[in-house]
Amino acid sequence: MQIIRSIKKMQAAARQIAGKGQTIGLVPTMGFLHEGHLSLIRRAKKEADVVIVTIFVNPAQFAPTEDLAKYPRDEKGDIRKIEGAGGDIVFIPKAIDVYPEDFQTYVAVEKLTQTLEGASRPTHFRGVTTVVAKLFNITRPDVAVFGMKDYQQAVVLGQMTRDLGYPVKYIIAPTVREKDGLAMSSRNKYFTAAQRIEARCLYYALLTAKEMVESGVVAAGKIEREMRSAVKASSPSAQIDYIAFTDFATLRTIKRVAKGTICSLAVRVHGVRLIDNMKL
Ligand code: PAF
Repeated sequence: MQIIRSIKKMQAAARQIAGKGQTIGLVPTMGFLHEGHLSLIRRAKKEADVVIVTIFVNPAQFAPTEDLAKYPRDEKGDIRKIEGAGGDIVFIPKAIDVYPEDFQTYVAVEKLTQTLEGASRPTHFRGVTTVVAKLFNITRPDVAVFGMKDYQQAVVLGQMTRDLGYPVKYIIAPTVREKDGLAMSSRNKYFTAAQRIEARCLYYALLTAKEMVESGVVAAGKIEREMRSAVKASSPSAQIDYIAFTDFATLRTIKRVAKGTICSLAVRVHGVRLIDNMKL
């Protein structure tokens, strides 16, 4: 497996791969990889000849109030995991190369970024779309794989891919969960064993919603109330940021839930903000 840190070298390698008639699969990450990321790499491997995994903790998607310096990092461990999952190239650019001092060009998806995560993190998605556009430009992928765990991000990046006409097969891969249902996330490492049990409250709330819909309940308001109780029952001190019922592609709010509606929620458990979602 090759490790590339320079943008120029990555561009040259991508040109060489394409020159040989091989396809490129891209999995952008911010590192500190878990089984969820590895599932994206394995999926990319099924879709393309050469898989490039990027590790870049993207400063542009952190607000000044969010602690970029504290974001967990484990480059050595990540490289080992990527190799084990079948990655061919790890691209680890430097922040100063991605965002040189006079950097001033951003890519922004306008409407889809106003709600849900965008409502509480107003500059976040502009950072995500800008860096992913740059990574697309550098690596020229044929296929890119993102996780459904970050539902809004997946929809926003799909919109950007279409709007900017990238010739990329855009794949959203399913969320990977721990045995007890907790969605895998780099943030889970912040919990003590007891807090970790409470973190399951998001999954329990989503299961409550799914069961209600399967038993014929359609009123989003009624389902939301039960979900709020489910969160509180598992984690009394949890603070719910939002519970939303939306159309998968448009993120339009849905009042009468139907099969296929996406239920998503953000909850702060012992100071750690978690997000999760489920197709109902
Ligand atoms: O999901 C992430 O880890 C990041 O938002 C991404 C897509 C790698 C962009 O920095």
